[in-house]
Amino acid sequence: MGKRKPLIAGNWKMFKTCTEAVETASKLVKLSSNVTDTDIMIAPTFTSLALVSKVVAGTNVGLGAQNLFWEAQGAYTGEISAQMILSAGCSYVIIGHSERRQFFSETDSSVNKKINSAIQSGLIPVMCIGETGPERDADKTFSILDKQVQMGLEGFSSGNLRSLVIAYEPVWAIGTGKTATSGQAQEVHRFLRSLIEKKFDKNLAESIRILYGGSVKPDNIAELMSMPDIDGALVGGASLDPEVFSKIIHF
Ligand code: PGA
Repeated sequence: MGKRKPLIAGNWKMFKTCTEAVETASKLVKLSSNVTDTDIMIAPTFTSLALVSKVVAGTNVGLGAQNLFWEAQGAYTGEISAQMILSAGCSYVIIGHSERRQFFSETDSSVNKKINSAIQSGLIPVMCIGETGPERDADKTFSILDKQVQMGLEGFSSGNLRSLVIAYEPVWAIGTGKTATSGQAQEVHRFLRSLIEKKFDKNLAESIRILYGGSVKPDNIAELMSMPDIDGALVGGASLDPEVFSKIIHF
């Protein structure tokens, strides 16, 4: 343990015009230039990716997309492929975010196809999983996560998944100001690591980065990061302001 390099990722969701995205990324590049021991990633909207990629090129800030479609190309109006995301300068892609599951019919089986497409193209997939409030209240947290991992990672070998990042985001903690306590998050992260060990092997379980997401802020990041199985954060609201996000990166 302790061998994994932390990753702090900012999910900008459907915020910021092209101009605003470039401005925010430029500020962030300056504020985070001294960071060497943590990987940094921002995920602007598709329309800003190519512009922001010019801003972050050659810096320690990595670029990610918020979604992809699994086909390489074709008559799929409105969709965007892994190759297109790569050609816009991304190295990461967020897959299966709870908002996509909730509003855009994302399922564990579409998540599985998207992860496959990301891996085949050399993008680093950030697979989001998490239980809803009612599921937690009904003591279904572990069974829901088990299903999301089993189905999302169906058909892969540990060799395929070396770059995979998992983001545990309890749905009840996203954008609500309710963070899971560091203890609650650690319990789940440990469970997920043991699940990866059972489904794949110990090597993958020990090297895979598991991020926590859900109302991460400058004042709770240090405690979350002090947990042995929490390897970073996927940050929504608090990643939109470069000063605030920089504080999280400098946990
Ligand atoms: P939040 O969002 O930090 O605004 O809670 C997290 C996420 O949805 O990735």
